[in-house]
Amino acid sequence: MCGIVGYIGPEEALPVLMNGLKRLEYRGYDSAGVATIDGGLTIGKKVGKVTELEKLIAANPPGGTIGIGHTRWATHGEPNDINAHPHTDQFGEIALIHNGIIENYATIKKTLESDGYTFRTQTDTEVLVQLIRAFYDKGNSLERAFRLALKSVVGTYGVAMISTIEPDRIYAARNGSPLAIGIGDGEYILASDASAIVQHTRHVTYLTDGEMAILERDKYTTKTIDDIPVTKEIEEITFDIGELEKGGYEHFMLKEIFEQPDTIRNAMRGRLQRDESTVRLGGLRTVTEKLRDARRIIIVACGTSWHSALVGEYMFEQLAGIPTEVEYASEFRYRDPVIFKDDLVIAISQSGETADTLAALREAKRRGATAIGIVNVVGSTIARETEAGVYAHAGPEIGVASTKAFTSQLMVLALMTVKLARMRRMGAAEGAQILKAFEELPAKIEETLAHAEQVRAIAHTYAGARNFLYLGRGYNFPVALEGALKLKEISYIHAEGYPAAEMKHGPIALIDENMPVVFVAPDDDIYEKVISNIQEVRARSGRVIAIATEGDERIESLAEHVIYVPRTLPFLAPILNVLPLQLLSYYIAVERGCNVDQPRNLAKSVTVE
Ligand code: G6P
Repeated sequence: MCGIVGYIGPEEALPVLMNGLKRLEYRGYDSAGVATIDGGLTIGKKVGKVTELEKLIAANPPGGTIGIGHTRWATHGEPNDINAHPHTDQFGEIALIHNGIIENYATIKKTLESDGYTFRTQTDTEVLVQLIRAFYDKGNSLERAFRLALKSVVGTYGVAMISTIEPDRIYAARNGSPLAIGIGDGEYILASDASAIVQHTRHVTYLTDGEMAILERDKYTTKTIDDIPVTKEIEEITFDIGELEKGGYEHFMLKEIFEQPDTIRNAMRGRLQRDESTVRLGGLRTVTEKLRDARRIIIVACGTSWHSALVGEYMFEQLAGIPTEVEYASEFRYRDPVIFKDDLVIAISQSGETADTLAALREAKRRGATAIGIVNVVGSTIARETEAGVYAHAGPEIGVASTKAFTSQLMVLALMTVKLARMRRMGAAEGAQILKAFEELPAKIEETLAHAEQVRAIAHTYAGARNFLYLGRGYNFPVALEGALKLKEISYIHAEGYPAAEMKHGPIALIDENMPVVFVAPDDDIYEKVISNIQEVRARSGRVIAIATEGDERIESLAEHVIYVPRTLPFLAPILNVLPLQLLSYYIAVERGCNVDQPRNLAKSVTVE
């Protein structure tokens, strides 16, 4: 949700900024812009993708060894050239980029207008830069003006500012939107996340809310916006630059789908404790007793992570016997939830930055619950704000539609389930059987992905459909939801996921010979019930695509298309069953000519409410 990058050092800033913007483009792609200082302030900004900006500035590239860049996901003001960041004060001396929302911008704007400041855009960001200007005009230093302005605004921000008033400084601050500072050899790179930094240095520090940084040519300073010095820990970036490339695949999404045998292996690595038929999760060591004694689990998440939470609910209840509730993080935070001290609240988030999930987590902590995280991005805000947690270790996920992070979240939930269950009621023999099933998963994922060509052919048949229905039961109901979400996100076909048995209470009215219905129908203890639901769809001429267990020949006479998936334990089946659905949405989107990795209106990391 808006990407921010900044550079100060001996090199030309522009190539560093443009490279950074490409890395951060997954955060928003409504418009992009850069500002550099080389004597004066030069700004280039353009609606559309970073490549549009590249074309715009190609003939006359902004020079200088200090600069900032921004890629936008629009909140206030439509995506156009004028509303693109950076924004400047009215004298063109200060340039600011911003990720977040300034909620009280309208009131501030009114006051500034009556003081004679004039505005060119509809953005909240322009209000902030003009407010800084106004404080500066009252005789404050630029730094003090920056701090005073930030203290006057209500809302969220990650901001970076350069100015000809102090041409060798980048000011940055955060409240709610992430900012990392890469500490290189004689240079500093500021960015919304480490992906824009790793090319230059592995040393990084993350600002926390209420903190700011001043980057200069030979040093950097961190403090609170109340001017209290802060010493920051320097961390190491753990992933490699190769993980940020497409590696020969046409799209990041396809690469990430095919990475899943490895990412599932990585999620398990070092965590299976075979001698005790259980699981070791180092990140949960400090809360072992709380895990053992928790009377209830509440999982908060958004989007795809919410779907993995639903699978987690089934796992925790069925195998560990712990009552579990799943909440949309955005609802949880505003509905005065009843939380007990012995509740365990789990926040699931790929990015670790989703504003609603973070807020829900803080609310749970405020009410005294033990809060833990299942997060993919190492060092992200949710990872740092939870008392304990488990990393998904899926590596950087660039495609906006989440794929490998989803299955890694499921894997982590399965690992946690075994850990909790073995502490409570599961015997060693069952634990051992599950561990064996875990180890077999990567090969089974490979086997499933080997059906890609078959899925592509099915995609070709249905790429023109206007609606899709996805149905499943039990562990596979959330898989149906996820399949439908994937299709909606990247191909813009309307799709609904439903519990198969609920279909007769509504969606059945939609079924005719034009309606493809995807059934997630593994051979488990509710198989027969799902078969009845398939019959109901067939009776109304619906076109059935079934995801079924290898060896299930019976389903062939009922479904027009069957995609086979190897058998595994029922609670692990979602990890395999979702794979053909990821591929189906991918191939349909490609067939329809959609931008798979950057679908319209979406952003990978949603750092606004
Ligand atoms: C956005 C993304 C989704 C993601 C959701 C939650 O909507 O487009 O793919 O599932 O945010 O993100 P998180 O990083 O918290 O898992």
